[in-house]
Amino acid sequence: MAEIRIRNTEERIKGEENVQAFLKSQGVLYEHWNTAKLPAELKNKFELSDEEKTQILETFQDDIKNLAARRGYLTWDIISLSDATPNLDELLKKFENVHTHTEDEVRAITAGRGIFVIKGAEEVGYFDVELEAGDVISVSQDTPHFFTLMENRQIVAVRLFIETEGWIAHPYADEKFQSK
Ligand SMILES: [Fe+2]
Repeated sequence: MAEIRIRNTEERIKGEENVQAFLKSQGVLYEHWNTAKLPAELKNKFELSDEEKTQILETFQDDIKNLAARRGYLTWDIISLSDATPNLDELLKKFENVHTHTEDEVRAITAGRGIFVIKGAEEVGYFDVELEAGDVISVSQDTPHFFTLMENRQIVAVRLFIETEGWIAHPYADEKFQSK
């Protein structure tokens, strides 16, 4: 279950209905997949072979196809990050810059945790969405955001795209960004 932290006020929003309502009000799609169906050996594995990635995509293929059909996504893959990822610190530094894309950024977390930092409505400002396994989020195109890991620095997620080129990051300079 995701939790929200509003950076301006330190307010936290918890509980399925509250989180869903808040994210809807900010134009962010938020859903759940049932990760119980993931084979036990893949629930806590962050270094994945190509076969294991395929196995994860097959496990969630109905969820993927359902979401893709509703939102027009045409292609998908798996990303995994952990301390075993070469240059993880450099990668995270690169990630942690506010940017936009010309299509939605979609992540379905199948293991581990992660945070989306998203620019909300003017009166809300930036907020964090702390995600865990089973959480599915779609940040709409042109919405300033970035993604990073949580303290455990481990995640596996399905990414869905309309076209992978649409996912190029356009830096978004914002004097109102609260870095904490
Ligand atoms: Fe992004």
